[in-house]
Amino acid sequence: MTELFTYAIDSDGIATLVWDDPNAPVNAMSQAVMTALNRVITDLVNNAQVTGVVLTSGKKEFVVGADLKEILSWESGERERDIAVISEFIQSIHAVMRLMETAGKPFVAALNGSALGGGMEIALACHYRIAANQPKAKFGFPEVTLGLLPGAGGTQRLPRMIGVEAALPWLMQGLQTGAAQAQAAGLINEVVDATQLLAAAKQWLRDNPNAQQPWDQNKSTRHTVRLPGGEVQSAKISQVMMAAQAMLRKQTHGNYQAPQQILQTLYEGCQLPLEQALQLECRHFVQLLLSNQAKALIRTFFLGLQDVNKLKARPTDIARRQFANIGILGAGMMGAGIAYAASAKGLDVVLLDTSQVQADRGKDYTRRLLDKKIAAKKITEQHAKAQLTRIKTTSDYQDLSDCDLVIEAVFEDRAIKAKVTAQAEAVIGADTMFASNTSTLPISGLAAASQRPDQFIGLHFFSPVDKMPLVEIIVGEQTSQQSIAWALDFVQQLGKTPIVVNDSRGFYTSRVFKTYVLEGMALLKEGVSPALIENAGKMAGMPVGPLALSDEVSLELMDRISRQTQQDLGDAYVAHPGDEVVDFMVHHADRLGKKAGRGFYQYTDQGDKSLWPGLAEAYPVAVQQPTPAHVKQRLLYAQAVEALHCVSEGVISRPHEVDIGSIFGWGFAAHTGGILSFVETIEGMDTFIRNADALVEQGGDRFRVPHMLRELAETGGSFY
Ligand code: NAI
Repeated sequence: MTELFTYAIDSDGIATLVWDDPNAPVNAMSQAVMTALNRVITDLVNNAQVTGVVLTSGKKEFVVGADLKEILSWESGERERDIAVISEFIQSIHAVMRLMETAGKPFVAALNGSALGGGMEIALACHYRIAANQPKAKFGFPEVTLGLLPGAGGTQRLPRMIGVEAALPWLMQGLQTGAAQAQAAGLINEVVDATQLLAAAKQWLRDNPNAQQPWDQNKSTRHTVRLPGGEVQSAKISQVMMAAQAMLRKQTHGNYQAPQQILQTLYEGCQLPLEQALQLECRHFVQLLLSNQAKALIRTFFLGLQDVNKLKARPTDIARRQFANIGILGAGMMGAGIAYAASAKGLDVVLLDTSQVQADRGKDYTRRLLDKKIAAKKITEQHAKAQLTRIKTTSDYQDLSDCDLVIEAVFEDRAIKAKVTAQAEAVIGADTMFASNTSTLPISGLAAASQRPDQFIGLHFFSPVDKMPLVEIIVGEQTSQQSIAWALDFVQQLGKTPIVVNDSRGFYTSRVFKTYVLEGMALLKEGVSPALIENAGKMAGMPVGPLALSDEVSLELMDRISRQTQQDLGDAYVAHPGDEVVDFMVHHADRLGKKAGRGFYQYTDQGDKSLWPGLAEAYPVAVQQPTPAHVKQRLLYAQAVEALHCVSEGVISRPHEVDIGSIFGWGFAAHTGGILSFVETIEGMDTFIRNADALVEQGGDRFRVPHMLRELAETGGSFY
């Protein structure tokens, strides 16, 4: 077995220290690793023969951060104890880094691959950073996306190195870039060919035997932040901070704790000597780590996304299927988008529509996207040409005969969908899968038109397909386990994130999403001011207010779906107060949505929008207005209760998928870590039930939580 750290000393006394954790696929900072690192660095520092150290990795990546799973496992629930234990670990990291910085021997980070989070921080604690020119390597500080701050000195070393203003986006937005951009920003000093990496690092050490960190060079200036061009005045820092604070409030409505704390840590820390600043950073880090928000974000984006993308839902006894050639029926908005996404991943695509002209129009969509990428220098013309030739357009069903999978994305009309299903099945091979991209029609009903309903599945993509990461896989009554496994393989091949959902009206995402916009309309009907509704939606963390979102989706479409549902369900249909508003807008006010240029808002050709003045007449604003907090609560609770019903009815069962589906599918408030996380971690089940019960009193049964939640709360259970 390889050792965690090994080193060799050359004839110049330069030690090349290789970090290669034999127990993990990547190098990360755990307690055992930091103890070993401390030991080896102490050895090297004390070894008189050693004149300098190159720190590099034996993995593909350099170092990718701290082992968060381990840190969270130390939590006992006893706050003081937890703070002490975690702080001790963080301080052990600081100690190693300070030892490297002040040992009187130069250290170079030879970044053979990605350096993220703690990995980038250890690189900053070296006197110089050289990266290998690896196209896929990423550099930056993603901690903020997990509700944390870079806790291994990043918030203090980076601004002292590149300046406060330049450091902010890296720390507060979790920017991650390739080597060239990181070099331009000053995070990395040099980028060289991979084969030259170690030689370049050693050369630098030979040339700089007395290297010192900027903050250790001149003791008299260590109380102020050094910028590349000199020192910065406190007044200037305050100015930068105030601007950043204002921007943050505008962008996040105060929903995210981490960027707020990063700003504060930076501001306070920059006025202190480094050692004290590191202590301060440690306190803020531990505070964030123990917050509910960080717990929620880590569970969803770190553990949850890993779980979902590792296809935990996939039946294990079925061999993996590699897709080479897919057919798409309907070259409209969705069909064209799917053709782009599949061809981008190297699949051959047959794009079929009612005429060659229509099909070609669908292919033009890919051409336009590729042209933009060429203009932005993201791809070469050659690359674009190769992708385009993978899309064959046609109106002839015979061209589908070699496809492994056919996805229909024709009009949302049962009869048309049934017709194209039969036409395709007449020519495709026996093990070709068939999928529908329907957004609302139950899959089992559509599968009735198929000769092989076991191979019929729902693949619900989101628009625009090239940007949206989620695909909702819908399992019909007769869909086989094999089809589920293969659908998951296909979604993974596209590089998208799947959630698996059982067939039901509106599936999971459309069903819950609808409650957000309808709740907005119910509030409107009650006389709540539209501006308050829209602002409360954004303050709740939703990307767009519910009324603007209804316009985007199209009121006309919502009306059509609602009528279809009423017709299908008859007496079983449960009316929502928002239905009346949709009906009024479409059938009485002739305001169909954004596409028509008229909905809750009126739209100008220049792309501006303002609330439709007629709204005040149709829904007069009441004298008494609820608080923004109340409106916010209603908008979030309406969605959360519906999601809980989906779970309780077995429409969707894996909690990570419920959370990720809510954020990626319709933009549920991301700072909560997703919709179940909102209920369990942010609100707490007991509080959630109490608040929802109070809303039932005011708003009716749509806020009634399922029995499952009460049981779980009573037994102290968890969704996860
Ligand atoms: P669209 O109207 O842009 O495109 C439909 C295409 O199907 C048109 O190009 C049409 O010529 C073609 N078509 C119609 N009948 C055909 C036939 N018999 N044979 C071959 N092609 C035929 O519609 P869009 O928006 O692309 O929607 C397609 C499907 O995707 C629908 O089922 C819709 O519910 C679903 N969907 C739509 C989303 C959206 O945001 N628009 C999101 C997710 C799913």
